[in-house]
Amino acid sequence: MKFSTSAAAACAAILPGVSATIYYAGVAQSSGEFGAWSPTAQVGTGLPGRFGVDYAFISNSGVDIMTDKHKVNLHRVAFLLERMCPLSYGLGARFNETHFNYFKESIDYITKTKGAYAILDPHNYMRYNNPSSQPFSGSVIGNASDPTAATTAQFGAFWGELAKRFADNEKVIFGLMNEPHDMPSQLLLDNLQAAVTAIRATGAKNLIITPGNAWSGGHYWTKGGSEANSNWIHKLVDPASNLAVDIHEYLDEDFSGGHLACTQEPAKNLAGVTAWLKEHKLKAFITEFGGSNTTECVTMLNGMLDYMSQNEEYIGWTAWAAGPFWGPNSPCCTDQKQYGSLEPGSKAADGGPGLYDTIWVPVISKKVPAKLQWEGLASVNGGVLSQRV
Ligand SMILES: *[C@@H]1O[C@H](CO)[C@@H](O)[C@H](O)[C@H]1NC(C)=O
Ligand SMILES: *[C@@H]1O[C@H](CO)[C@@H](O)[C@H](O)[C@H]1NC(C)=O
Ligand SMILES: *[C@@H]1O[C@H](CO)[C@@H](O)[C@H](O)[C@H]1NC(C)=O
Repeated sequence: MKFSTSAAAACAAILPGVSATIYYAGVAQSSGEFGAWSPTAQVGTGLPGRFGVDYAFISNSGVDIMTDKHKVNLHRVAFLLERMCPLSYGLGARFNETHFNYFKESIDYITKTKGAYAILDPHNYMRYNNPSSQPFSGSVIGNASDPTAATTAQFGAFWGELAKRFADNEKVIFGLMNEPHDMPSQLLLDNLQAAVTAIRATGAKNLIITPGNAWSGGHYWTKGGSEANSNWIHKLVDPASNLAVDIHEYLDEDFSGGHLACTQEPAKNLAGVTAWLKEHKLKAFITEFGGSNTTECVTMLNGMLDYMSQNEEYIGWTAWAAGPFWGPNSPCCTDQKQYGSLEPGSKAADGGPGLYDTIWVPVISKKVPAKLQWEGLASVNGGVLSQRV
């Protein structure tokens, strides 16, 4: 998501695949990245932050409702690199163990207590050292012209350490980075490759999902000339062959997820990236999409979910966003709409039904497949499907 509220708070030419299957479906859990934004871009704002006050990862009761009642098997959990790796340590293998333990507790709750899958989501836009004005602040990781930037090797070391700690949990999925943008695609590829190589060096077989440049935008995947994701992302090499692509796709005018009105036709806008996935025999997750409760948004959200279920390139999704810190704020529309979030129990500012009631329950939750994968390694090839009991 390009704009969290705390941050100011981001005709299919392809015939539907015959064996199209969604194996993983659920929600993004947003709140690990909360509380670090400063209107004056004051470096260090909200760091390390107070767990449970400035930020959290999940609400257990919200995860219970999503998993038990709505039968979702996937939660994408956002966190900030600057909290996991404090600025005084630098990005790398040294973690703030207190912070890591809070995070691990949430991941264990989702994966071990509830039996669902969890995507680890460093919500950092491929930047490190100043989240105070995300998504634009902070040094681009690996920028050799910026002496304050963390290096590509440091990013690899960070992922190697995180992977080592979750390698024994086959329900954990490694989301390499949220929405890289405004950086050379070669540098992005180098950073992603350093992470994949470091992850596999630990022996971890976990599913990895890779973002693209330009905010991971599906509609833009084949655009941007020589810098287009379609020229780069398939070059990433995974020795364990368990790598999928992580796409974001919003439905508003500028694809930011910042506006109330949905005007962007999902099937039309995803056709290019779907063809690219097919060409390279790649699978994908759409880990961010969303919309408000207008009639157009309802139609387009249904269109998006149907598109994914009909095209075999798509194996998973998480809708933006649940999470305990949204309050009446809307993750769909930062144009000052206070319609609540996908968090169970969230309300609009006027006390009326929130987006959990108006969008999650009647629209998105209806498209959670009856059978999903509930056991075994998260895999680019999916796994055994079963109904949650
Ligand atoms: C590590 O996290 C804890 C809990 O948030 C915090 O109290 C402590 O200051 C952090 N340490 C550093 C070096 O940021
Ligand atoms: C890299 O750092 C230089 C020097 O600060 C800056 O001019 C340039 O914009 C940075 N590149 C990126 C991609 O941020
Ligand atoms: C969307 O939700 C808000 C808040 O509950 C409500 O005021 C508005 O009427 C709803 N819009 C539609 C089209 O249902």
